[in-house]
Amino acid sequence: MPYAKIIGSGGYLPPRVVSNDELAADLATRHVETSDTWIVERTGIHQRHIADDGTTTSMLATKAAQAALDNAGISASEIDLIIVATSTPDFIFPSTACMVQANLGAIGGAAFDVQAVCSGFVYALTTADAYIQAGRAKTALVIGAEVFSSILDWSDRGTCVLFGDGAGAVVLQASNEPGIVGAHLGADGSQMGILSAAGNVSHGKVTGDPFLRMDGQAVFKLAVTSLAKSAHQVCEQAGIALADIDWLVPHQANLRIINFLGRKLGVPDSKVVVTVDQHANTSAASVPLAFDAARRDGRIKSGDMVMMQGVGGGFTWGSVLVKM
Ligand code: ACO
Repeated sequence: MPYAKIIGSGGYLPPRVVSNDELAADLATRHVETSDTWIVERTGIHQRHIADDGTTTSMLATKAAQAALDNAGISASEIDLIIVATSTPDFIFPSTACMVQANLGAIGGAAFDVQAVCSGFVYALTTADAYIQAGRAKTALVIGAEVFSSILDWSDRGTCVLFGDGAGAVVLQASNEPGIVGAHLGADGSQMGILSAAGNVSHGKVTGDPFLRMDGQAVFKLAVTSLAKSAHQVCEQAGIALADIDWLVPHQANLRIINFLGRKLGVPDSKVVVTVDQHANTSAASVPLAFDAARRDGRIKSGDMVMMQGVGGGFTWGSVLVKM
C-alpha cells in the first residue's frame, strides 16, 4: 500500500492586519471593553488577519492551494482529489472544494468539504491519506480555510478577540517512501454545547444563532485532555515514541493551551510550532498555516517526524503523524 507523502505546502493570509490595540479601539466604539494586556496574558495573541468584506473562504483557499502547488512544483491538472476543511463555506452548496477546483482549473477529480471546525484539517488530511492508501487517489490537495470573522459576535469580548482569517494547504502524493505514518480522530458529540454556531438559513431566514458561542473554560480543559490523549494514541498506533517527534504542530487556539499540552506531553517549547501570536485562531486553517510557516523558514526539514493536532467544535480532536 502506498504512503501519502507531503510534497508541498502553502499559506495565505488576508493583507489587513489588526493589532490588539486597533481591535480594542474599534470595540470601544461599540462600548465593548478589552485591552492588549488582557488578550496577550490570557491567549498569547498579538494580532490577527481579517478578510475585507467580499473576500470569501474559497478565495483564500485558492490562493493557499496555488502556493502549495507551486511549492510542490506540480500543475493543477495532476490533482485528482481536493478536500477543503472549513466551517465558513462560501455557500450552503456547492462545496468550497468545488469552487477551488474550478478556480484552479483542476477539473475531473473528487472535490468535497469536511466540517470538523478547528479539527477540520487533521480530519481532511486523514481522509485524503485513506484515499491514497486505498489507491483511490494519487495526488491530493488538502486545504484548511476560514473567514471566521464572518461568524463572530463583535459585542462578545470573550470570543471576538480570539479569531482570525486565513488558509493553509498541503499537496499529498502517493509514494513508496513514508509519509503519513499514523492518524487518530475522535469526537464527543455530547459536548456540542461548549462551542457552537448553532444557526442556519431555513425558508429564506436565519434560524437559531448564527454567531460563535463558547464556554471558554470547558473548551480549555477538554482541549488539553483530548489532545494529550490523542497524541499518546497515535504514537502507540504508529509504534513511535513521543520523544521521537521533531515538531509538534498543534491547533493554534491559545498559547496557554499549547503550553499546557507541551508540558503534559513532555515536549519542549523548542519543538513546538507557534503562530497563534501572529495569526490568532484561524480554526481549520491554523494547523496548515503553522506547518507551512515552519517548513518555509527551514525548521521542518526532510526526514523530520511531525505531529499535527487539531481540536475544536463538535467536540472533535485528532492527530496525524507525518514523516517528512
Ligand atoms: N477583554 C477583557 N476582559 C475580558 C475579555 C476580553 N476580551 N473576555 C473576557 N473578559 C473578562 C470576563 O468578562 C471576566 O470578567 P469578570 O471576572 O469581571 O466576570 C474575566 O475576563 C474572566 O473571564 P473568563 O471567561 O473566566 O476568562 P478566562 O481566564 O477563562 O479566559 C479564555 C477566557 C481566553 C477564552 C479562556 O477561557 C480560554 O483560553 N479558553 C480556551 C478556549 C479557546 O481558546 N477557544 C478558541 C476556540 S476553540 C478551539 O479552537 C478549540
